[in-house]
Amino acid sequence: MSNELTRSELAGRIAMVTGGGSGIGRATALLFAQEGAAVGVLDVDLQAAEETADLIRSVNGRAIGLETDVACHEATQAAVQNVVSEFGGLHILFNNAGIIRRASVLDTTIEEWDRAVAVNLRGVFLMSRFAIKEIAKSGGGAIVNTGSGWGMVGGRNAASYCATKAAVVNLTRAMSLDHAKDNIRVNCICPGDTNTGMLASEGRQLGIACDQFLRESADRPMGRIGRPEEIAQAVLYLVSDRSSFVTGTTLVVDGGGLAG
Ligand SMILES: NC(=O)c1ccc[n+]([C@@H]2O[C@H](COP(=O)([O-])OP(=O)(O)OC[C@H]3O[C@@H](n4cnc5c(N)ncnc54)[C@H](O)[C@@H]3O)[C@@H](O)[C@H]2O)c1
Repeated sequence: MSNELTRSELAGRIAMVTGGGSGIGRATALLFAQEGAAVGVLDVDLQAAEETADLIRSVNGRAIGLETDVACHEATQAAVQNVVSEFGGLHILFNNAGIIRRASVLDTTIEEWDRAVAVNLRGVFLMSRFAIKEIAKSGGGAIVNTGSGWGMVGGRNAASYCATKAAVVNLTRAMSLDHAKDNIRVNCICPGDTNTGMLASEGRQLGIACDQFLRESADRPMGRIGRPEEIAQAVLYLVSDRSSFVTGTTLVVDGGGLAG
């Protein structure tokens, strides 16, 4: 982030980013703030959320960090209320928090399955059911849900992840139909392998050395993995007025990984 905020594309908007304490969520929270939005940074890890909020405030942006488990009904309701009372409304929700367990159906425990559904899918539902009412009250806005390339095609040893991410892709379409009347656009971003803590954890779960796993992940037309900032730019497009006629769609940002 530069030392000076430019305050343009999202001037006057109020945004929430789940999983904003690291990776794609942090990069997007910083970009939203750079473009003039006030940002509620939510993460199950309070310290990480506060670090992102501090980074934004250190360049005179407006942000609060909130400890929020998106799988928890009461916590999501409280987080939306906190952001609305702090900043005076809500226009943008980036449902980004997610977890991955690299295992087949046989190797996934029931607890792991339930947690994947709770975070990756119910989290989107819970955040949205409170945020939609507030975004409508503010005159409308945009929601971006985070799917994955593995919400579009299957992947090996990632059963709970593939199932929940595919559900998010279609939940997005359903939400876009229901809330167009409230002037709320709802779209899905599907990143391919991106250089974050999640990707590093996948290598560890599979028992593959970090270097080798990153090399294998780069095997796609563009010959590299993505940077969180590149995903953030696509999310900015989907929440800004540049995409004013775009709703119910899925934007794949993966260096061509699903192209052929
Ligand atoms: N990195 C990739 O290659 C990749 C590819 C496709 C999709 N995605 C998706 O992008 C999103 C962001 O992932 P990332 O790569 O930045 O990972 P990351 O692990 O760096 O960040 C995820 C953040 O979510 C937070 N989080 C986890 N569970 C939470 C919960 N219950 N409530 C609130 N916050 C929670 C974590 O503390 C962390 O800060 C995820 O939905 C992920 O599935 C990532």
